[in-house]
Amino acid sequence: MTALFRMLLFFTLFLGCALTALAEELPVDKDTGLIVAPGFEQVKATCTVCHSPMLITQNKADREGWLEMIRWMQEKQGLWQLEPSVENAILDYLAAHYGPTASSRRAPLNVTFPE
Ligand code: HEC
Repeated sequence: MTALFRMLLFFTLFLGCALTALAEELPVDKDTGLIVAPGFEQVKATCTVCHSPMLITQNKADREGWLEMIRWMQEKQGLWQLEPSVENAILDYLAAHYGPTASSRRAPLNVTFPE
């Protein structure tokens, strides 16, 4: 390996890590532990009514998987019908931030548990 090639390789790796670190720096809501991004408000208002948001933050699924969980809760757990616009916002948010390809680093633990 030539020195130049090595330097290039090193630089590429370094840049990759730096970009990954930047991409992960989305703010996390202190009360829920959820990532603050478009759709967060709808998720907070809808999905923390019955259970801890930790059920969400410790899960990963693609859009279809999240839709299945929502349908399951609607069928079995008394989750109400969601407005299509709300449902879409929630699914976009969940697939983007709690999808299978999202960083495997979990959000910080929310140590004050909701009652
Ligand atoms: C009407 C009450 C209710 C609402 C509102 C609700 N859920 Fe649930 N959800 C439940 C119940 C009940 C369970 C089962 C809890 C358990 O097993 O301890 C559950 C379980 C889950 C699980 C775990 C599923 C699994 O396979 O273990 C996830 C993830 C989840 N809910 C996400 C959501 C999301 C996202 C929303 C917002 C769209 C939401 N919940 C809104 C009642 C609700």
